[in-house]
Amino acid sequence: MPLDMIIGAQWGDEGKGRVTDLLAAQSDIVARYSGGDNAGHTITVQGDIFKLHLIPSGIIHPNVICLIGNGVVLNPAVLLQEMDALAARGLAVGPDRLKISRNAHLITPAHIALDKAKETQRGNEAIGTTQRGIGPAYTDKTSRIGLRAELFANPEELADQIQTHITQKNEVLSKIYGAKPLDADLVAAEYAQYAQRLRDHLVDGPVFLDDALRNGRSVLAEGAQGTFLDLDHGTYPFVTSSAPTSGGVLTGLGVGPRMVGRVIGIAKAFTSRVGAGPFPAELEGEMALRLRGTGDKPWDEYGTTTGRPRRVGWLDLVMLRHAARINGLTELIITKLDILSGLDEIKVCNAYRLDAETIEFYPSDIPSLRRCQPVYETLPGWQEDVMGIRALADLPENAQRYVQFIVEAVGVEITAVSVGPSRNQVIRL
Ligand code: GDP
Ligand code: IMO
Ligand code: MG
Repeated sequence: MPLDMIIGAQWGDEGKGRVTDLLAAQSDIVARYSGGDNAGHTITVQGDIFKLHLIPSGIIHPNVICLIGNGVVLNPAVLLQEMDALAARGLAVGPDRLKISRNAHLITPAHIALDKAKETQRGNEAIGTTQRGIGPAYTDKTSRIGLRAELFANPEELADQIQTHITQKNEVLSKIYGAKPLDADLVAAEYAQYAQRLRDHLVDGPVFLDDALRNGRSVLAEGAQGTFLDLDHGTYPFVTSSAPTSGGVLTGLGVGPRMVGRVIGIAKAFTSRVGAGPFPAELEGEMALRLRGTGDKPWDEYGTTTGRPRRVGWLDLVMLRHAARINGLTELIITKLDILSGLDEIKVCNAYRLDAETIEFYPSDIPSLRRCQPVYETLPGWQEDVMGIRALADLPENAQRYVQFIVEAVGVEITAVSVGPSRNQVIRL
């Protein structure tokens, strides 16, 4: 059986968790391959809302086994809180249901303190990170001084490495950033407890997945963040520190490209972004408020992890074409079509004006991207509420036309459109 991938096609929060939950019904294993608890995935099942940061969204299906892959940076304190919160709701997350790749890297309080200190120092140029220690943890990984989850199985080595790590980071925190040093003994004691609770979850991720795939099991890779937050392909430096794109699945799980089946891009019917950085089709004023919502509905555009209001704009098809290219998308799933109901007209950005030229591709350098002005096409809207619709033919004609316009502009088929946050609020095409 193949490995299917769920990839954010925009700047994150496209509804990846919701689609993972939908497709997990036909999967044996759901695996997170990148990012950490900077992710916030909201899943709604019959009115029950689950907000997950680290545990793959497949966990809500009792027969699915979940894996935290080697490409993830893992804060054990957050993971245990999440496990306890699920257990309190009757979803036990024992070692049979949740596996952790030995090679996943650990986030420590020093990474979080450094993330905060660096953001403060950047001042007006701050990235607007989630302050979860993501960047500093990946920096340690690439500097070859990171701490890996495998240490959970070796308490003495874990204690030693935590002592060295905190001592080194305290130098930087106090001397460079003037921040408060951390208590190494305290952190070591905390991590010893985490290790005790998590060590039975450790597996060799690539061997576990290879075994599963050889035995006919299906694996779903759950993306975190989105294509335009990718360290290489996103709006650098306003990006995260990992690879949310399809290439990141292969390295973040340790599987080969021949195992790949579907590469499913998830995109909202409009665009959102949380944090700083260029956003050509960004809207302000009344239409932005309309798309964002006021916060009274659970799906309004406020960050799951930080609660920050998300920046919003019309759908950017230039971006989606680029996402299709970078990821090799085999299909798209569009979410939140219901939010566009009630508008007289809907705009889509189908090209950029860059200086005197009109371009239809996404410029890879930030100075050019910053100068890009959106070129909009205007499509007729629809008034009807679509949240109860389950078949394409029952959608208002202009909503069908909107979906068809995306297919033609991006050149990738759309296999489902979601019209509400619940499991069943979906139109399969
Ligand atoms: P993720 O990070 O990509 O998993 O996305 P988030 O969970 O952060 O944000 C998506 C939000 O939209 C969540 O609150 C979902 O419950 C909600 N959502 C997903 N699909 C739909 C949809 O089709 N309609 C509506 N109204 N809400 C949706
Ligand atoms: P999900 O999985 C939206 C953004 C942050 C910031 C930048 C860097 O829910 O789609 P970081 O803490 O990663 O160093 O922050 O990336 N960001 C996200 N935006 N959804 C996410 O995850 C995000 N994860 C990180 O806002 O701009
Ligand atoms: Mg999210």
